Amino acid sequence: MRIGILTKTSRSYTAGRFRDAARERGHRVRLLDPGKFALMVESGRPSLTFKGRPLTKLDAIIPRIGARQAEISTSVVRQFEQQGVYCANPSHAISIAGDKLRTLQVLSRHRIGIPASAFVFDKADIGPAIDKVGTPVIIKVLSGTQGAGVLLAETRKMAEAIIESLQIAKQNLLIQEFVSESRGRDIRAFVVGDRVVAAMRRIAQEDEFRSNVHLGAFTEAVELDKEYERAALLAAGILGLRVAGVDLLESNDGPKVMEVNASPGLEGIEAASGVNVAGEIIEYIEKQVTFPDLDIREHLHLSKGYRVVEIPILPKSPLAGQALHETPFKEQEILVLNIKRDSIVLPSPSGTEKILPGDVLLCYGKELVLKGYIPQRMKKKRKSAKDSVPENPTQDSSAGAQ
Ligand SMILES: Nc1ncnc2c1ncn2[C@@H]1O[C@H](COP(=O)(O)OP(=O)(O)O)[C@@H](O)[C@H]1O
Ligand SMILES: [Mg+2]
Repeated sequence: MRIGILTKTSRSYTAGRFRDAARERGHRVRLLDPGKFALMVESGRPSLTFKGRPLTKLDAIIPRIGARQAEISTSVVRQFEQQGVYCANPSHAISIAGDKLRTLQVLSRHRIGIPASAFVFDKADIGPAIDKVGTPVIIKVLSGTQGAGVLLAETRKMAEAIIESLQIAKQNLLIQEFVSESRGRDIRAFVVGDRVVAAMRRIAQEDEFRSNVHLGAFTEAVELDKEYERAALLAAGILGLRVAGVDLLESNDGPKVMEVNASPGLEGIEAASGVNVAGEIIEYIEKQVTFPDLDIREHLHLSKGYRVVEIPILPKSPLAGQALHETPFKEQEILVLNIKRDSIVLPSPSGTEKILPGDVLLCYGKELVLKGYIPQRMKKKRKSAKDSVPENPTQDSSAGAQ
């Protein structure tokens, strides 16, 4: 294969490891600075040049996108996607992971532990938000990395003062529950495809609550519990990342996902775990390269009147208890793409699969027909909250491929 590594810093440990691992496996590699691309956006012919010249067709791209120039780099990845080049991570997922708030928003729809967090715009909302998550409280500048921009305020008063002054400085902030039992430590789980290939624990210097390696934290190898492994895979899966560094706090209630890194560095994790993570990623790309990304929504929008929606199954739903082939779905040309049950997903379920209360069916079909299956939550709630409030938090009647 011809592999391009998108990286600003060609002399970094991580870029070097990718280059060596790819060469060891017989591939050709080029390190490409995202800032040196020009993107040509023409109807029907998306193309690009690198340093003013057309680029020989690549088979795969490994994006290394830092906080700086994230937008430029992500648009380069998007251009490769338009050309059908396989990218280790899709551009839309990179964008979500680059934003701590967006990440938590997306994760919060699923059954996955996250620290209680609030994002406020108005001064009047600061106090109540702090009360909600409790003190001491963590305050995060959304654009911060490597521990800079993460503060711990012991009291409500201190927190309010900090937040107000940061807001004056036009910073976007996240107010977050301090997971005190995980003070100064966290877990980095390195996800490649559907596996956690390596994991480590980071332990901060004394007197420091942030366990960033840049702040002097040391690392140790860990054997992950199933629960932590599952949370890491789920977080990466929900965001749509195939290669991800998932950071988890070790709370008394189990793992809490703090952030998900779409361009995780290799130095710390390879040293701590002894695993050839770069090699694992190249090997994974070799297997996946025939499946470049496509934006399913774009394709579906081409068929007017059709939609992808989530159908939540309430306890009283006539569908509950039926096998798929017993439902009218087939006659109505409704395709069940998957079934979400608790925290697992059953892809492409067979006709004999039984629908259970609490399931969420991801369906493709005619908009008008699908409409009949969406519970009318708003109306019912007003009538009697008691017998119609669904248990499942994913009951969003507007959910679909918008
Ligand atoms: N809610 C929290 N509870 C306890 N510790 C936290 C919390 N959020 C962050 N930390 C600590 O601060 C460190 C940096 O926070 P993080 O959100 O990862 O920011 P950055 O992107 O700057 O690394 C984490 O590695 C962790 O040790
Ligand atoms: Mg971090």
